[in-house]
Amino acid sequence: MIYDKETLERMYKERNLPWDDGKPRGQLVDYVNESNRCRALDVGCGTGTDAIFLAQNGFSVSVIDISEEAIKIAISKGQEAGVNIDFKVGDVLNMPFEDETFGFVNDNGCFHQLSKSSWEVFVKEIARVMRPKARYLMKCFSDKEPPNPKLPHRLSEETIRKCFSGKFNVLHIRPIVIDGRIHGDHKGYSCLMEKK
Ligand SMILES: C[S@@+](CC[C@H](N)C(=O)[O-])C[C@H]1O[C@@H](n2cnc3c(N)ncnc32)[C@H](O)[C@@H]1O
Repeated sequence: MIYDKETLERMYKERNLPWDDGKPRGQLVDYVNESNRCRALDVGCGTGTDAIFLAQNGFSVSVIDISEEAIKIAISKGQEAGVNIDFKVGDVLNMPFEDETFGFVNDNGCFHQLSKSSWEVFVKEIARVMRPKARYLMKCFSDKEPPNPKLPHRLSEETIRKCFSGKFNVLHIRPIVIDGRIHGDHKGYSCLMEKK
């Protein structure tokens, strides 16, 4: 299911968030352990769990989410954690950031949530704000997961490569299990890419 903005606002208000277990995802923790610190962007940051983890680990962090409610929660969680994050309410398809700003972009479930017609614009837009050789870490549901109307798009390796390979070198696409807090566990991919 692809949620519209109104539904997202309601879900954040009600804290009905099947994707949010309050912990940074494992692939991000592994990435941070192996990487240099830089300016990082979290696209579709939700309540800011991954962004706060990045800030606590020495990254200079900006975030963007289309949901005002999500950003309100993220600001309050950031204050509680005592970290300094640049919070923006906005659309990932048209971001208020300068060209070549970021060395790392984290995407924990944003791309697979967008309508297929906006994928090309999304890829161009994240590439625009990334420095050459910057890294992009993306988590999505995989086509190995059986069809389920409650889930967003399920992506094949082929589709991922087709969408991103114009602007990115795909470094890996790894099968993962996505823990669903409400709908159970699902097959997914963790993808690491480098901007060309
Ligand atoms: C599956 S949730 C993941 C949230 C967060 N990354 C996490 O792991 O908890 C997807 C997020 O993308 C945001 N989103 C969806 N479309 C967006 C858009 N066009 N621009 C910015 N954010 C968007 C939603 O509001 C939602 O917070």
